[in-house]
Amino acid sequence: MNKDLLRMDDLSKDEILDILNLADQLKYEQKHGIEHHLLKGKSLGMIFEKASTRTRVSFEVGMYQLGGHPLFLSSKDLQIGRGEPIQDTARVLSRYLDGIMIRTFSQNEIETLAECSSIPIINGLTDDEHPCQVLADLMTIREKKLILEGLKIAYIGDGNNMCNSLIVGCLTLGMNVAIANPIGYKPPKYYIEKGISLAEENGVSFEMTEDPSEAIKKADVIITDVWASMGQETEAKKRQIAFKGYQVNSEIMKLANNDAIVLHCLPAHREEEITEEVLEAHADEIFEEAENRLHAQKAVLVKLLS
Ligand code: CP
Ligand code: NVA
Repeated sequence: MNKDLLRMDDLSKDEILDILNLADQLKYEQKHGIEHHLLKGKSLGMIFEKASTRTRVSFEVGMYQLGGHPLFLSSKDLQIGRGEPIQDTARVLSRYLDGIMIRTFSQNEIETLAECSSIPIINGLTDDEHPCQVLADLMTIREKKLILEGLKIAYIGDGNNMCNSLIVGCLTLGMNVAIANPIGYKPPKYYIEKGISLAEENGVSFEMTEDPSEAIKKADVIITDVWASMGQETEAKKRQIAFKGYQVNSEIMKLANNDAIVLHCLPAHREEEITEEVLEAHADEIFEEAENRLHAQKAVLVKLLS
């Protein structure tokens, strides 16, 4: 395995499957009261430059359950908030900690942090990627559908961090991916090219369209995300107009397979990207997905820190 988990393509197919298998095992054992202090004596720094509910709590509880020590580090209170270079922060924190999970804006910043650190760095969301969420999504899909290979995933919405990590993760595991994004909101070129080459390599399909009905046709899994991500709050009004017609609602769901599941990384904006009706009809899947953040990340922590 690479030292770090910065982007979904840091993981090979076998490494993703290893993480999912360990996550399933840790979930089962935790539910049966079996404790694993696999990270006893280890400390994880958790740097947040953006808000979080799930990522913060699941990493913190996950480290505790593994016998380790999590430290919540708000960038507002760290010297990086006052301009200390990320390179120096990396060199200092590498001497105290056994790993860092960071949620920030720029992918370059975490790449620099990783280059200058001697300890593993985990991406807890950047503007470009959300690999921990996608590992939990894959775990949830396999739990609900029992297989991954050959399924059709439809992502409807912004070509953002979630879309990017899903393209790479799902195609790497041999799933067919269809994405529907409005013009001007497609994923960056890197992910489109990566998607095309992964689909070719793995003999699966990667469709890109502006028509959500096209993408969702016969899908097994439907995934969406907010129209305005963290840091894009001032664009919310403009985006509400651009994304009109990209809502996951009961009408469009008729085009998916009858037994399709719906995932949403949360937080959800009801009646924007997803209706209350669809969210509640699929709450079992969506909240299992949220729970699986804990199990999937424990597996990542064990693989990278132990
Ligand atoms: N899905 C997710 O990452 O949630 P938080 O923003 O609450 O961490
Ligand atoms: N795309 C969203 C995901 C939140 C978990 C954001 O970046 O805000």
